[in-house]
Amino acid sequence: MKIYYSKTQSECFGLIAEDLLDMLSKRRRRFFNLALSGGGSAEKLFRAMLSKGCADLDWKNVKIFWVDERCGPTSSSESNYANAKRLFLDKIDIPQSNVFRIRGEASPEREAARYSKVLKENIPLSGGVPVFDCIVLGMGADGHTASIFPGEARAARAHGLCFAAPAMGNRLARVSLSEKTIVAAKKILCPIAGKDKRDTFSKVLGQYIRQDCKYPASRVFSKAGDVSVYTDILPFPV
Ligand code: 6PG
Repeated sequence: MKIYYSKTQSECFGLIAEDLLDMLSKRRRRFFNLALSGGGSAEKLFRAMLSKGCADLDWKNVKIFWVDERCGPTSSSESNYANAKRLFLDKIDIPQSNVFRIRGEASPEREAARYSKVLKENIPLSGGVPVFDCIVLGMGADGHTASIFPGEARAARAHGLCFAAPAMGNRLARVSLSEKTIVAAKKILCPIAGKDKRDTFSKVLGQYIRQDCKYPASRVFSKAGDVSVYTDILPFPV
Protein backbone atom coordinates (compact mmCIF):
# COMPACT_ATOMS: atom_id res chain seq x y z
CA MET A 1 0.00 0.00 0.00
CA LYS A 2 1.33 3.44 -0.91
CA ILE A 3 0.25 6.54 1.02
CA TYR A 4 0.30 10.00 -0.57
CA TYR A 5 0.06 12.81 1.97
CA SER A 6 -1.18 16.28 1.03
CA LYS A 7 -1.45 19.31 3.29
CA THR A 8 -5.01 20.11 2.18
CA GLN A 9 -8.06 18.16 0.99
CA SER A 10 -7.98 20.11 -2.26
CA GLU A 11 -4.41 18.93 -2.93
CA CYS A 12 -5.35 15.40 -1.87
CA PHE A 13 -8.25 15.10 -4.35
CA GLY A 14 -6.25 16.93 -7.00
CA LEU A 15 -3.52 14.31 -6.74
CA ILE A 16 -5.87 11.35 -6.95
CA ALA A 17 -7.63 12.97 -9.91
CA GLU A 18 -4.29 13.47 -11.71
CA ASP A 19 -3.28 9.84 -11.10
CA LEU A 20 -6.64 8.52 -12.29
CA LEU A 21 -6.62 10.67 -15.42
CA ASP A 22 -3.03 9.59 -16.09
CA MET A 23 -4.11 5.94 -15.95
CA LEU A 24 -7.10 6.60 -18.18
CA SER A 25 -4.97 8.43 -20.76
CA LYS A 26 -2.41 5.58 -20.85
CA ARG A 27 -5.06 2.91 -21.35
CA ARG A 28 -3.65 0.07 -23.41
CA ARG A 29 -6.52 -2.37 -23.85
CA ARG A 30 -9.70 -1.50 -25.71
CA PHE A 31 -11.73 -0.85 -22.58
CA PHE A 32 -10.63 0.61 -19.26
CA ASN A 33 -12.96 -0.76 -16.59
CA LEU A 34 -13.40 1.67 -13.72
CA ALA A 35 -15.59 1.33 -10.60
CA LEU A 36 -16.59 4.40 -8.58
CA SER A 37 -17.70 4.69 -4.98
CA GLY A 38 -20.28 7.07 -3.61
CA GLY A 39 -20.40 9.42 -0.64
CA GLY A 40 -18.79 12.78 -0.07
CA SER A 41 -15.29 11.82 -1.21
CA ALA A 42 -16.64 10.75 -4.60
CA GLU A 43 -18.20 14.18 -5.07
CA LYS A 44 -14.92 15.89 -4.21
CA LEU A 45 -13.11 13.60 -6.65
CA PHE A 46 -15.56 14.38 -9.46
CA ARG A 47 -14.99 18.12 -8.97
CA ALA A 48 -11.22 17.59 -8.92
CA MET A 49 -11.31 15.46 -12.10
CA LEU A 50 -13.31 18.10 -13.94
CA SER A 51 -10.90 20.81 -12.79
CA LYS A 52 -8.02 18.68 -14.13
CA GLY A 53 -9.61 18.56 -17.56
CA CYS A 54 -11.19 15.10 -17.60
CA ALA A 55 -13.89 16.41 -19.94
CA ASP A 56 -11.21 16.59 -22.67
CA LEU A 57 -10.43 12.89 -22.30
CA ASP A 58 -11.67 10.32 -24.81
CA TRP A 59 -14.23 8.37 -22.73
CA LYS A 60 -15.58 6.12 -25.48
CA ASN A 61 -13.28 3.27 -24.40
CA VAL A 62 -13.93 3.62 -20.67
CA LYS A 63 -16.62 1.59 -18.94
CA ILE A 64 -17.93 2.93 -15.64
CA PHE A 65 -19.36 0.71 -12.89
CA TRP A 66 -20.22 1.29 -9.24
CA VAL A 67 -18.62 -0.12 -6.12
CA ASP A 68 -21.95 0.08 -4.36
CA GLU A 69 -25.36 1.73 -4.45
CA ARG A 70 -27.88 2.64 -1.80
CA CYS A 71 -31.24 0.94 -2.37
CA GLY A 72 -33.87 3.40 -3.50
CA PRO A 73 -34.89 5.43 -6.55
CA THR A 74 -32.39 7.41 -8.60
CA SER A 75 -34.45 10.47 -7.58
CA SER A 76 -33.11 10.01 -4.03
CA SER A 77 -30.31 12.29 -2.86
CA GLU A 78 -28.68 9.08 -1.56
CA SER A 79 -28.26 7.64 -5.05
CA ASN A 80 -24.57 7.25 -5.87
CA TYR A 81 -25.42 6.97 -9.56
CA ALA A 82 -27.61 10.09 -9.60
CA ASN A 83 -24.92 12.12 -7.82
CA ALA A 84 -22.24 10.86 -10.22
CA LYS A 85 -24.49 11.68 -13.18
CA ARG A 86 -25.25 15.20 -11.93
CA LEU A 87 -21.66 16.06 -10.94
CA PHE A 88 -19.64 14.10 -13.51
CA LEU A 89 -21.24 11.92 -16.16
CA ASP A 90 -23.36 14.73 -17.57
CA LYS A 91 -20.19 16.78 -18.01
CA ILE A 92 -18.14 14.26 -20.02
CA ASP A 93 -18.73 12.71 -23.43
CA ILE A 94 -19.25 9.06 -22.52
CA PRO A 95 -21.61 6.73 -24.37
CA GLN A 96 -24.57 5.75 -22.15
CA SER A 97 -23.83 2.14 -23.16
CA ASN A 98 -20.53 2.43 -21.24
CA VAL A 99 -22.27 3.30 -17.96
CA PHE A 100 -23.40 0.36 -15.83
CA ARG A 101 -25.34 1.57 -12.82
CA ILE A 102 -26.50 -0.65 -10.00
CA ARG A 103 -30.29 -0.52 -10.00
CA GLY A 104 -31.02 0.75 -6.50
CA GLU A 105 -34.74 0.53 -7.15
CA ALA A 106 -34.62 -3.25 -7.66
CA SER A 107 -34.78 -6.01 -5.06
CA PRO A 108 -31.27 -5.99 -3.48
CA GLU A 109 -30.70 -9.73 -3.68
CA ARG A 110 -31.91 -9.92 -7.27
CA GLU A 111 -29.87 -6.85 -8.24
CA ALA A 112 -26.71 -8.32 -6.66
CA ALA A 113 -27.19 -11.38 -8.88
CA ARG A 114 -27.93 -9.28 -11.97
CA TYR A 115 -24.95 -6.99 -11.42
CA SER A 116 -22.64 -9.99 -10.90
CA LYS A 117 -23.75 -11.18 -14.36
CA VAL A 118 -23.15 -7.71 -15.84
CA LEU A 119 -19.61 -7.73 -14.45
CA LYS A 120 -18.88 -11.17 -15.87
CA GLU A 121 -20.19 -10.14 -19.28
CA ASN A 122 -18.20 -6.92 -19.49
CA ILE A 123 -14.92 -7.31 -17.61
CA PRO A 124 -12.03 -9.74 -18.19
CA LEU A 125 -12.13 -12.53 -15.60
CA SER A 126 -9.38 -14.22 -13.60
CA GLY A 127 -10.50 -17.37 -11.85
CA GLY A 128 -14.11 -16.33 -12.50
CA VAL A 129 -13.60 -12.93 -10.84
CA PRO A 130 -13.76 -9.69 -12.86
CA VAL A 131 -10.50 -7.76 -12.81
CA PHE A 132 -11.21 -4.04 -12.84
CA ASP A 133 -8.45 -1.81 -14.17
CA CYS A 134 -9.15 0.58 -11.32
CA ILE A 135 -11.51 0.78 -8.37
CA VAL A 136 -11.94 4.04 -6.46
CA LEU A 137 -12.85 3.22 -2.87
CA GLY A 138 -13.70 5.38 0.10
CA MET A 139 -13.41 4.65 3.80
CA GLY A 140 -16.00 5.63 6.36
CA ALA A 141 -15.07 6.91 9.80
CA ASP A 142 -16.14 3.50 11.13
CA GLY A 143 -13.63 1.71 8.91
CA HIS A 144 -16.12 0.44 6.35
CA THR A 145 -15.35 0.44 2.66
CA ALA A 146 -17.76 -0.17 -0.18
CA SER A 147 -20.78 -1.47 1.74
CA ILE A 148 -18.75 -3.83 3.88
CA PHE A 149 -19.35 -2.62 7.42
CA PRO A 150 -17.60 -3.61 10.65
CA GLY A 151 -19.35 -6.42 12.48
CA GLU A 152 -21.34 -7.51 9.46
CA ALA A 153 -19.35 -10.67 8.84
CA ARG A 154 -21.83 -11.97 6.28
CA ALA A 155 -20.84 -9.15 3.93
CA ALA A 156 -17.15 -9.87 4.35
CA ARG A 157 -17.71 -13.55 3.67
CA ALA A 158 -19.89 -12.90 0.63
CA HIS A 159 -18.81 -15.52 -1.86
CA GLY A 160 -20.41 -13.92 -4.87
CA LEU A 161 -19.11 -11.04 -6.91
CA CYS A 162 -21.70 -8.73 -5.39
CA PHE A 163 -23.88 -8.88 -2.29
CA ALA A 164 -26.89 -7.20 -0.73
CA ALA A 165 -26.10 -5.35 2.53
CA PRO A 166 -29.15 -5.05 4.80
CA ALA A 167 -30.49 -1.73 6.05
CA MET A 168 -29.10 -0.94 9.50
CA GLY A 169 -30.42 1.84 11.71
CA ASN A 170 -30.79 4.89 9.47
CA ARG A 171 -28.58 3.33 6.82
CA LEU A 172 -30.32 2.20 3.66
CA ALA A 173 -29.93 -1.32 2.31
CA ARG A 174 -27.26 -1.46 -0.36
CA VAL A 175 -25.90 -3.55 -3.21
CA SER A 176 -22.10 -3.75 -3.22
CA LEU A 177 -19.13 -5.38 -4.84
CA SER A 178 -17.87 -8.11 -2.55
CA GLU A 179 -14.42 -8.08 -0.97
CA LYS A 180 -13.32 -10.79 -3.42
CA THR A 181 -14.19 -8.60 -6.41
CA ILE A 182 -12.62 -5.47 -4.94
CA VAL A 183 -9.26 -7.01 -4.03
CA ALA A 184 -8.93 -8.56 -7.51
CA ALA A 185 -8.61 -5.07 -9.09
CA LYS A 186 -5.34 -4.15 -10.78
CA LYS A 187 -5.31 -0.85 -8.95
CA ILE A 188 -7.23 0.62 -6.01
CA LEU A 189 -7.23 4.36 -5.32
CA CYS A 190 -8.66 5.44 -1.98
CA PRO A 191 -9.03 8.99 -0.66
CA ILE A 192 -9.13 9.13 3.13
CA ALA A 193 -9.51 12.80 3.97
CA GLY A 194 -10.85 14.76 6.89
CA LYS A 195 -10.03 14.91 10.58
CA ASP A 196 -13.07 12.78 11.45
CA LYS A 197 -11.22 9.79 9.95
CA ARG A 198 -7.92 10.33 11.74
CA ASP A 199 -8.44 7.84 14.58
CA THR A 200 -9.80 5.15 12.29
CA PHE A 201 -7.05 5.74 9.72
CA SER A 202 -4.43 5.31 12.46
CA LYS A 203 -6.04 2.05 13.55
CA VAL A 204 -6.34 0.83 9.96
CA LEU A 205 -2.64 1.51 9.40
CA GLY A 206 -1.75 -0.26 12.63
CA GLN A 207 -3.84 -3.28 11.67
CA TYR A 208 -2.33 -3.28 8.18
CA ILE A 209 1.25 -3.17 9.55
CA ARG A 210 0.56 -5.88 12.12
CA GLN A 211 -1.48 -7.84 9.56
CA ASP A 212 -4.22 -8.06 12.14
CA CYS A 213 -6.98 -6.65 10.00
CA LYS A 214 -10.30 -6.15 11.76
CA TYR A 215 -11.72 -3.20 9.86
CA PRO A 216 -13.09 -3.94 6.38
CA ALA A 217 -10.82 -1.20 4.98
CA SER A 218 -7.61 -2.67 6.44
CA ARG A 219 -8.66 -6.15 5.28
CA VAL A 220 -9.16 -4.91 1.72
CA PHE A 221 -5.92 -2.91 1.77
CA SER A 222 -3.95 -5.96 2.93
CA LYS A 223 -5.49 -8.35 0.40
CA ALA A 224 -5.43 -6.09 -2.66
CA GLY A 225 -2.48 -6.06 -5.05
CA ASP A 226 -1.90 -2.37 -5.58
CA VAL A 227 -3.47 0.20 -3.27
CA SER A 228 -2.79 3.94 -3.20
CA VAL A 229 -4.24 5.93 -0.32
CA TYR A 230 -4.47 9.72 -0.65
CA THR A 231 -4.82 11.61 2.60
CA ASP A 232 -4.52 14.97 4.33
CA ILE A 233 -4.27 13.21 7.69
CA LEU A 234 -1.03 12.64 9.56
CA PRO A 235 -2.25 9.61 11.51
CA PHE A 236 0.49 9.76 14.12
CA PRO A 237 2.14 12.58 16.02
CA VAL A 238 5.15 13.74 14.00
C1 6PG B 1 -21.19 4.75 -0.10
C2 6PG B 1 -19.75 4.60 -0.45
C3 6PG B 1 -18.95 4.33 0.80
C4 6PG B 1 -18.04 5.53 0.93
C5 6PG B 1 -17.54 5.68 2.33
C6 6PG B 1 -16.79 7.00 2.50
O1 6PG B 1 -22.04 4.46 -0.93
O2 6PG B 1 -21.43 5.24 1.01
O3 6PG B 1 -19.45 3.81 -1.48
O4 6PG B 1 -18.23 3.17 0.84
O5 6PG B 1 -16.96 5.41 0.03
O6 6PG B 1 -18.66 5.67 3.19
O7 6PG B 1 -17.74 8.00 2.35
P1 6PG B 1 -17.31 9.54 2.49
O8 6PG B 1 -16.36 9.77 1.38
O9 6PG B 1 -18.59 10.30 2.35
O10 6PG B 1 -16.66 9.69 3.85
